[in-house]
Amino acid sequence: MTVQTPATYPPPPAALQDSSLVETYRRMTAGSARLAERALALFPSGITHDARYIEPHGIYVTHASGSRKWDVDGNEYVDYPGGHGALLFGHNHPEILQAVQNQIVKGLHYGASSELELEWAEWIQRLVPGAERVRFTNSGTESTQLALRLARAVTGRSKIMRLVGHFHGWHDYAASGFLGQFDGSPARGVPPAVAESVVLVPPGDLEAAQRSLDDDVAAVILEPTGSVWGQVPLALDYVRGLREFTAASGAMLIFDEVISGFRCAPGGAQEALGVTADIATLGKVVSGGMPGAAVVGRADVFDAMDFRRAAAHGEEKVFHMGTFNASPATCAAGIAALRLLNSTDACEQAIRYGDGLMDDLNELFAEEGIGWIAYGTYGGFHIFLNPAGADTDRRRIEAGEHDFAFLKAPVEPALRLKLRVGLLVHGVDVQGWPGAPVSAAHTPADHEQTVKAFRRTIQALRDEGDLA
Ligand SMILES: Cc1ncc(COP(=O)(O)O)c(C=O)c1O
Repeated sequence: MTVQTPATYPPPPAALQDSSLVETYRRMTAGSARLAERALALFPSGITHDARYIEPHGIYVTHASGSRKWDVDGNEYVDYPGGHGALLFGHNHPEILQAVQNQIVKGLHYGASSELELEWAEWIQRLVPGAERVRFTNSGTESTQLALRLARAVTGRSKIMRLVGHFHGWHDYAASGFLGQFDGSPARGVPPAVAESVVLVPPGDLEAAQRSLDDDVAAVILEPTGSVWGQVPLALDYVRGLREFTAASGAMLIFDEVISGFRCAPGGAQEALGVTADIATLGKVVSGGMPGAAVVGRADVFDAMDFRRAAAHGEEKVFHMGTFNASPATCAAGIAALRLLNSTDACEQAIRYGDGLMDDLNELFAEEGIGWIAYGTYGGFHIFLNPAGADTDRRRIEAGEHDFAFLKAPVEPALRLKLRVGLLVHGVDVQGWPGAPVSAAHTPADHEQTVKAFRRTIQALRDEGDLA
């Protein structure tokens, strides 16, 4: 089949064409606009990660330091995406940087084991509850994929239970039910048989999960603090309930801690919630900003990957490879990051910063009378744009009182886009939902600039008629 490429690239959404806010953004990011134009001939939408999609174009960054980054036009931003959540210590922490620099001159890849991987795994064991065994991978996506395979292998069952809207990377078992296909139908490109093997349940509804947990469910996988890092928070009783009934049914409980790991507490959500899973997936912070991730958990589960033990049981070993697993520079960055985590109060600093920022943003939103609510547990902040003007507050949202449909109710796309662009115009980069993780490197000056950027953006949105 020949794919037809349109002769002209489709224009940006109409709502952005007549906006002085967007015009200001275009003017101040002219260099980025030129690179974005060039990128259209290289990458779909000109981007290399769906989360970097910004209309009319994203910024092209030249360098970063601490909590800040700079684009090709010389604009400086308070950086919240923080390496998509990997940079709990901010950009270029001297100890992590030094560890990587010392390592790269000794060789990039040995095609063999190194003592570094032992030290990295020992730090994980020391910090993360239940990490009796460790396997390194290259990304969070690979980690959840391996965790699901292990669960199926060990239980001899074939289905996976997932919570609607929870993110576990982009592989076939994680695709449906994240952004759409909430009825369990296959996302585009996913084989129907794979989608059928995934049982989707509404987050927070223990009875629904219990009803759907038949004896072919190998594992329940979830983001323990709620979907996309707590955008739809879960009540603690719900998580405890999942722990109890998976244990009773023989299904594995998998905590996807790719983002909550080392952020909720040094031992991640397992430590913060006091609930230990059978398997946990780690990514982002674990490798100190280098590409790398891990799967950890019960020793008897990981025995299924062990050559000698599997043979002794007369079983086929669970298959797993990966060219860049535990590559030396990644190990070095991971060791430095986890050592820092252990010797500083980085988690608490980030959580404190996030709390203070959300307090001031909520004060601003109340002053402006716009009904938005900043919320977020464990140092990530999210902005509920409250399209129906519901009467609620931060504490109620964080306690898990509101469900997915309420918190993810559709918002006018132009409002979401222009809010993001407006914040960029005022020197603040957040993720698009809108929200972001925060880091231990964020400062009072970043806080002040962020609140100011929201104030000015709200004013601009009012001026353009996007807000009452
Ligand atoms: C909870 C969770 N799981 C899995 C992933 C996928 O990780 P990666 O992007 O490293 O593949 C992410 C990434 O944001 C995540 O937040």
